Amino acid sequence: MVIAEWGERVETMTEDLAATRREFHRIPEIGFEEYETSALIAQKLRALGLQPRTGIGGTGVVALIEGAHPGKTLLMRADMDGLPIEERTGLPYASTHPGRMHACGHDTHVTMLLAAAQLLLERREDLHGCVKLVFQPAEEGLGGARAMIEDGVLENPHVDAAIGCHIWNDMPVGLVGVREGPIMAASDRIKITIEGQGGHGAMPHHAVDAIATAAQVVTTLQTIVSRRVSPLQAGVVTIGTIHGGYASNIIADRVEMQGTVRSFDEDVWEQMPIQIEQVVTGVCAAMGVRGTVEYHRGVPTTVNDSGMTKLVREAAIEALGEERVVVPEQSTGGEDMSLFLRAAPGCFFYVGSQNPAKGADKPHHHPEFEVDEDAMPNGVKVLVASALRYLGKTAD
Ligand code: NI
Repeated sequence: MVIAEWGERVETMTEDLAATRREFHRIPEIGFEEYETSALIAQKLRALGLQPRTGIGGTGVVALIEGAHPGKTLLMRADMDGLPIEERTGLPYASTHPGRMHACGHDTHVTMLLAAAQLLLERREDLHGCVKLVFQPAEEGLGGARAMIEDGVLENPHVDAAIGCHIWNDMPVGLVGVREGPIMAASDRIKITIEGQGGHGAMPHHAVDAIATAAQVVTTLQTIVSRRVSPLQAGVVTIGTIHGGYASNIIADRVEMQGTVRSFDEDVWEQMPIQIEQVVTGVCAAMGVRGTVEYHRGVPTTVNDSGMTKLVREAAIEALGEERVVVPEQSTGGEDMSLFLRAAPGCFFYVGSQNPAKGADKPHHHPEFEVDEDAMPNGVKVLVASALRYLGKTAD
């Protein structure tokens, strides 16, 4: 494998990468509405000589690079949805879609995967097996990965392994982060309803106060992480909304709250619904009101397989040098790449894109989010080097 050759080639593609990324950046669309985005992806794949299939799992796009030799199939995934945010970067290539923004960097994921496809197509002779390029809709909590899996993306040909990456503003540009095991959290949603009895604010003894109970519930929920989860494990219980009440002199009969629950370890993930139910029903019973919990499982923990992580780390070191490959912190963010990684061993890695000198220091999902575009060649190199490594010899 002559990495020097194509590695240099990636450097010459840097301007093209930025131009392509800006094309996508201008047209952000939210989950399952990525019509322009997927049409542009399909057009660019056709220009490379591929035959993309569109409409997979809603707006998803899939294309197959067939190596010159038979072998395994590696799924390479880029998510492509934007967020319902009004962009405030003031950049010349800012969103042209009001109220929509690529504020998580999924435009760079699409760009990097397209570039990786171009390079891998030029090296079909070195590929034993197939690369399945997957452009996924609706990563932002709307179930795009699930929709594509239900639509058969893991079969025909059957996927043996999966890789993907996230541009990462928590990490300086120049670095990539590769970590074995859990890397992003399981993300669940809860809705809690508390039903008391309304009454006059001056006569609480004739009513059952849903708001006073809600206050107890919110406080007691915090003891799940501080008192029930092991201090050596992680968890988050956040109540994000609380609605109830009518006026200063009325006792509220009903409160609704919504929240998010995060965890990494399987046992914590299993326990969370049970413990939240215990707190809500227990506190409500003590206060003489009725409390119910609707617990919605979101995405499971994103877990990197040890063998595939080793492969990606070695590929990254080969492509970028050892000093630029780090072990990143785990993130309590959720990622539906987790569903691909549950179905096939794989690795999801971070591509550092933070550079305060270029204004690329805002957190993901911020209305002024911007990345250092010089991060993209690093991501492309690791994607290509990993694919060449995985498919570089006859499957055993
Ligand atoms: Ni994202």
